[in-house]
Amino acid sequence: MDSQTTMPTHNGPTSTLVFFVNGRKLEDPDVDPEVTLLTYLRQKLQLCGTKLGCGEGGCGACTVMLSRYDQAQGKVIHYSVNACLAPVASMHGLAVTTVEGIGSTKTRLHAVQERIARAHGSQCGFCTPGIVMSMYTLLRNNPKPSMADVDEYFTGNLCRCTGYRPILEGFRSFTTDAATGGSCGRRDCCRMRAKECDIKDVNGPSLSSENGPVNGVMNMNGEVNGDAKDVNGITDDISHVLYDTKDFQPYDASQEIIFPPELKTRPEWQSQGLVFRGPRVSYYRPPSLSKLLSLKAESPEARILVGNTEIGIEVKFKNQTYPVLINPTNVTELTEVTLTKDGVTFGASVTLSAVEDTLREQVNTQPEYRTRIFTAILEMLHWFGGKQIRNVAAIGGNIMTSSPISDLNPLLAAARARLTVHSAEFGEREIVMDQQFFTGYRQNSLRPQEVLVRIHIPYSHQNEYFLGYKQSRRRDDDIAIVNAGMRVRFRPQTTAVARLDLCFGGMGPTTLLAASTMKELEGRSWDSSLLETGTSLLLQDLQLSASAPGGMVEYRRTLAISFFFKFYLSIRGRLSEQLPSLVAPLAEEEQTATQGHRYVIPRSTQLFQTVPPGQRAGDPIGRPLTHASAFKQATGEAVYVDDMPRFRNELYAAMVLSSRAHARILAIDASDARTLEGVERIFFAEDLPADRNKTGCIQLDEEVFVSDTVTCVGQVVGLVVARDQATAQRAAKLVRIEYEDVKPLIVTIQDAIREESWWGPWTIHQGDVEEGFKSSPHILEGEMHVGGQEHFYLETNAHLAVPRCEDGGMDIFSSTQNPTLTQQLVARALGVPCNMVTCRVKRLGGGFGGKETRNNSVSVPICVAASILNRPVRIMLDRDEDMLITGTRHPFLGRWKIGFTEEGIFTAMKMEFYANAGCSANQSIDVVQKAMLSMDNVYRCKNRCVTGYACKTNLPSNTAFRGFGGPQGMMFTEDMVSRVADFLGMGHDELRKKNLIDSGDVTHFDQPMERCTIGRCWDEVIVQAAYCARKEAVERFNKGNRYRKRGIYLLPTKFGIAFSVQFLNQAGALVHVYTDGSVLLTHGGTEMGQGLHTKMIQVASRVLKIPASTIHISETSTDKVPNTTSTAASFSSDLNGMAVLNACTKIMNRLEPYIASNPKGQWKDWITAAYFDRVSLSATGFHKTPHITGYDFETNEGCPFLYFSYGAAVTEVELDCLTGDHSVLRTDIVMDVGDSLNPALDIGQVEGGFTQGLGLFTLEELRFSPEGSLLTRGPGAYKIPGFQDIPREFNVSLLRGAPNPRAIFSSKAIGEPPLFLASSVYFAIKQAVASARAERRLDPVFRLDSPATAERIRLACGDALVQLTTAGAPDTSKPWSITV
Ligand SMILES: Cc1cc2nc3c(=O)[nH]c(=O)nc-3n(C[C@H](O)[C@H](O)[C@H](O)COP(=O)(O)OP(=O)(O)OC[C@H]3O[C@@H](n4cnc5c(N)ncnc54)[C@H](O)[C@@H]3O)c2cc1C
Ligand code: FES
Ligand code: FES
Repeated sequence: MDSQTTMPTHNGPTSTLVFFVNGRKLEDPDVDPEVTLLTYLRQKLQLCGTKLGCGEGGCGACTVMLSRYDQAQGKVIHYSVNACLAPVASMHGLAVTTVEGIGSTKTRLHAVQERIARAHGSQCGFCTPGIVMSMYTLLRNNPKPSMADVDEYFTGNLCRCTGYRPILEGFRSFTTDAATGGSCGRRDCCRMRAKECDIKDVNGPSLSSENGPVNGVMNMNGEVNGDAKDVNGITDDISHVLYDTKDFQPYDASQEIIFPPELKTRPEWQSQGLVFRGPRVSYYRPPSLSKLLSLKAESPEARILVGNTEIGIEVKFKNQTYPVLINPTNVTELTEVTLTKDGVTFGASVTLSAVEDTLREQVNTQPEYRTRIFTAILEMLHWFGGKQIRNVAAIGGNIMTSSPISDLNPLLAAARARLTVHSAEFGEREIVMDQQFFTGYRQNSLRPQEVLVRIHIPYSHQNEYFLGYKQSRRRDDDIAIVNAGMRVRFRPQTTAVARLDLCFGGMGPTTLLAASTMKELEGRSWDSSLLETGTSLLLQDLQLSASAPGGMVEYRRTLAISFFFKFYLSIRGRLSEQLPSLVAPLAEEEQTATQGHRYVIPRSTQLFQTVPPGQRAGDPIGRPLTHASAFKQATGEAVYVDDMPRFRNELYAAMVLSSRAHARILAIDASDARTLEGVERIFFAEDLPADRNKTGCIQLDEEVFVSDTVTCVGQVVGLVVARDQATAQRAAKLVRIEYEDVKPLIVTIQDAIREESWWGPWTIHQGDVEEGFKSSPHILEGEMHVGGQEHFYLETNAHLAVPRCEDGGMDIFSSTQNPTLTQQLVARALGVPCNMVTCRVKRLGGGFGGKETRNNSVSVPICVAASILNRPVRIMLDRDEDMLITGTRHPFLGRWKIGFTEEGIFTAMKMEFYANAGCSANQSIDVVQKAMLSMDNVYRCKNRCVTGYACKTNLPSNTAFRGFGGPQGMMFTEDMVSRVADFLGMGHDELRKKNLIDSGDVTHFDQPMERCTIGRCWDEVIVQAAYCARKEAVERFNKGNRYRKRGIYLLPTKFGIAFSVQFLNQAGALVHVYTDGSVLLTHGGTEMGQGLHTKMIQVASRVLKIPASTIHISETSTDKVPNTTSTAASFSSDLNGMAVLNACTKIMNRLEPYIASNPKGQWKDWITAAYFDRVSLSATGFHKTPHITGYDFETNEGCPFLYFSYGAAVTEVELDCLTGDHSVLRTDIVMDVGDSLNPALDIGQVEGGFTQGLGLFTLEELRFSPEGSLLTRGPGAYKIPGFQDIPREFNVSLLRGAPNPRAIFSSKAIGEPPLFLASSVYFAIKQAVASARAERRLDPVFRLDSPATAERIRLACGDALVQLTTAGAPDTSKPWSITV
């Protein structure tokens, strides 16, 4: 039988899937086409290194490399893909390489794995395997890439912990840019000295290990590599080297695993016809066009599947089922690329990466004028999805989806691309992509049985210009808010328009051609009157109602005309070159309007204090030890909850969630769900006694399962338990709930204020505020809203409940930050004492506060189910569920009033904070109080009053998030301070410096400031950032540029450390020393990437005087250390460190006699002697924090904080005033961490915290419907910072000579304090906007809510184009989304 032309029929046998994974051949005769490669790897092959972060191609955690042998080219092609979207059925004839396949800690690490770990680029490690595989794929394709290549390969990977800098630095060593970046490389680098230098000096080569050995870098064996002294000719006590690149094993591309030879010799595997039949879906891979057409004729509803990047999302998130899928990748007509005399023809299944390659080749070889369309498409493709998406997604899939925000369709329609379509019934026909092609939302003019075969993109002509535009929330891997393709053809040697094509995406239900504008402008001369007419015509062509899906209506309309303005200027610039006698060149200040985003190679420095000269060589405290799990994380060996092997009788759970925000449950119908095969049982409130159904973290104001009235969308009404995840999730969707809405519906803070729906208020008073105002020469009042923030830890909530058969107890393996609370709430729901429940935590894939309490709405129900069924039950939330259920950082509204003197001295402050707490109290009261305690930030003022309200609304309960209300409280203060400066016309720095606190001052809650270092941080960052010179440079830049503006901003922060509730300030530890000398350490904190376990090992290593490698931490468990405090408040190193110190000191005290009697002996000798002498080698440790009493909000008395952490940052940004797009050019930070326990981990926290703050204040925007339903439920809609968003130059310095006597080994807390420094980005943006406004003579004092998104920035610029779109009577129709 000729396998090239035949294929199994509808009723014939199913094919056997043949592919290779990590060199091993797999043959599977029973493949379900619905199963993704990720599920197959993780569940069938137990290769759990590849992670599930989102399931929608938006995070890159699941990245693997695919390789195929290209017969035509005679070479192996490697490409990275998202395993979460790739159907395993599409792997036939391919080789899959996963993170396990390239290296291991047990054999040999791959250089990529080693370098990301050693460079401190892995914190929680959940993103690490995906990032490793993206880099690995790049190196397989190009062993010596540039940093720009690295950037391109990482467009589809996210990390929530590191801030990306260490990943880029580690991988820089592979690149041709290895010598750039880092500090200037001079022996007397200015950053090592306290002297301001010229900014130009910092753009030199980096300080690499080539400059000499590093300063005291230590590995886990306690060996110091290099001299801890002055080896680089730098000052004695400063180091800039967090790892030694000399330790990197050389990368040898020739040592890579070989491509399975069989795949080269069996070409039929790639070309043969296939059919895989599953219970619900059949998957065909026809070998020819005729077979494809006959399949399509038989099943017109069949879907053509190439990249699955649309279909995969529709099936997973939009409940679509497609019983017949046809993969056309073997059909020559759909995969070939043909060059013709008037353009390039692409088969519809050609991937976007292949399109890029072809177009690039064309651009490089053809005359410039012929490839203007191609250049525009290439630029657009750079911002299209991530690399993994472009590697699999097809050009035809983008056209056929016909999404109104497709990136290619506006360009292809403006270029009038020609489509060839084919069907068995109607034969072949050609369609031009124009307005008739798009017939409705995601619809086009193809008949159901027709297949798109090829797309022809024409060359451009001499007098023709073509440009593309796209604006999205985030530059990398984001769909467009608005995009456009614009083409103009001129009559030869004139400026008269012969033809104009203006095509827009994001401006309606389809891709739109601006028909009347195009028609009217034809024949007109390309001058300012054309611009004016065109702009007003466009606004008529592109109408959007206030309720248009996607929202941002004014912004979208402004963007459309701003793109046209940019197009107009760009073409005028081109015409002035072509026809200088007819068209004057663009003015210099106009030129930047035509520029797009420029890639800049990232650079950075990290400075920290070396250990003191006398410190023991093996003592790891103060040295940049690698994260204890980094290597395991980089190889995929690190085990997270869902990586744990399955129990034989294990079941899987899925949540039944409420879909109304405030409604009574009238009836629940689970009959369809119950009858689904594989469903074990469905649990509702009736399965628990009413009292045991009550739950909650501080107040018992929640229910395990809602019994009567739902109070938000996403509340747990029931739990389906089934044999596997797919069945459980399918059944959960079949449960029907009948509701009756209940009034009032409270969604926003304003709703809550109107209804007086809140917990509180609480007030802090200092001095006499009213008197203060009376004597104030000036008073200003204002208001600001700071939006919430999704935690977006890469690992969603995952829990495994295992009932103990013997005693009715329960072990729960959980991704919680707070094992004790989980233990308590599970015990409560099960009606058993706490000693029957053990909560065990190995590690978390990130937490950031989001897994402190909200995990219990997931972990408690599954324990109830496991207990009743007496079988293990597992759950890992899908990303959309996690985002919906678990709450966010609190949105806040701040109202302020300030009195001040002419000289800028603050005389009185009055503030009101309203937090949107959601539907239960959770930790909201403490969050509001922390905001109130942070309202002083770093300023003194004698008369202050702050009042806080935790607004009770019908949103999911909001919760802790890094900073815990502090950033919001400080933001309002800084907003107020900046507006005072603007009012007085005074420098913002001058005003701040005048009011800066110092030792001896008291806070507004009467805590005296001791050892205050804010003045030092402030002064040092000014020097480090070359701030004064750069401020002047920014002013010069702004004077010379009308449409691009820069801002530079200096911002200080202070953060109070300790739990403000006294009893939480305690910790325990347990140390076992075994007779071989090895040490097992346990303490109360959880490891979620912050490096807590590593620091605790360092503490134990110092006290026990043994190498860190001798000490192991296995997990955190409530049966080892009881009654633990949540790993939160940045306080875990302080608390647990002291407990570890206490336990280890006990051991050392017991060993003392044996050391004394054998001083020359070794650790093992002393242990052996003590053991034979029957001395206990196990000790518990305990610590309760002295000095703090907690704070009483009733009496305004008490001391809430043990000490304060300080820092200051300078950030410079550049704005595109026509789009609202911004780039962070540079950030410098000086952070006081006391004597750092581990500079690598602490700098990692500074960079990671700053980057999270950058997301909070500029990028991340939660959108809710007016009915209270979260609309942003995945990485597609919610954008956390990506690799491209961090400062292009990022310099972090830890303050030297600032020991803190109040914490372990003079260190300071670090997790939360740096986050607020990212507001320097917000204020730099605001300053740049102010500069744009000043030019237009608009009020310099203006409101800009946070986050400063592209939308807010563009509208705040307030120019004539904005005024055009905001003019007229307001449209009062219901908006698509609202601010909560
Ligand atoms: C994380 C992520 C990021 C994304 N980013 C972007 C972005 O930045 N810009 C953007 O525009 N899009 C983006 N997309 C959408 C998507 O990637 C593109 O639309 C892509 O081009 C679809 O191609 P595919 O091969 O994956 O389509 P598939 O999912 O395989 O198919 C899509 C649809 O096209 C139909 N189809 C495919 N080929 C044919 C054919 N030959 N004849 C008839 N019908 C056909 C299918 O039946 C199906 O309905 C993104 C998607 C994801 C998941
Ligand atoms: S899990 Fe696949 S991209 Fe997120
Ligand atoms: S280390 Fe990247 S997400 Fe945690």
